[in-house]
Amino acid sequence: MNHNHPKEERTLVLLKPDAVQRALLGEIIHRFERKGLKIIGLKMIQMDEVLAKSHYGKYVDKPFFEGLKNFMGAAPIVAVVISGVGALKVVRTLIGSTKAYEAAAGTIRGDFAMSTQSNLIHASDPEENPEEEVTRFFSENELFSYKKINFDLLYAADELK
Ligand code: PPS
Repeated sequence: MNHNHPKEERTLVLLKPDAVQRALLGEIIHRFERKGLKIIGLKMIQMDEVLAKSHYGKYVDKPFFEGLKNFMGAAPIVAVVISGVGALKVVRTLIGSTKAYEAAAGTIRGDFAMSTQSNLIHASDPEENPEEEVTRFFSENELFSYKKINFDLLYAADELK
């Protein structure tokens, strides 16, 4: 058993209205696919007031909440569930820091965004019950279990024991 290697995980990603409007959906999804992550759920939805309050519940009293809620409802969003070994951390590494103007070059926010609010993408925080985020947006019958054809090339067998 390799105790140092992370386990298979799933994480929720939201492609925010700015990603939809700026035609960056393909670019962003392409980055996750090329990294070797697996898409196991994907749909376009409208974030209404109820969903905004549940998803961003911890920010309802923050001064930016009203603007955040309006922004997230201004166009549809695309919800994606991504799976892979260590996926929670891998996805956040690819995305870059919340303040997009500080995000490292090569990350999604670092390459394509300038703002803290219009930062293209949300990903589950590993410290804050990521499974709850997945089940807020997807029922189990909307999530798919399959083996990617390149799985054995992406991972060394002894890393997965
Ligand atoms: S923080 O500041 O550490 O609590 O930020 P974080 O938990 O990473 O995410 C905050 C989410 O709120 C959105 N947002 C803002 N954050 C901070 N300041 C301002 N002004 C602001 N406006 C919007 C920010 O995009 C984060 O959204 P998600 O979807 O979680 O990435």
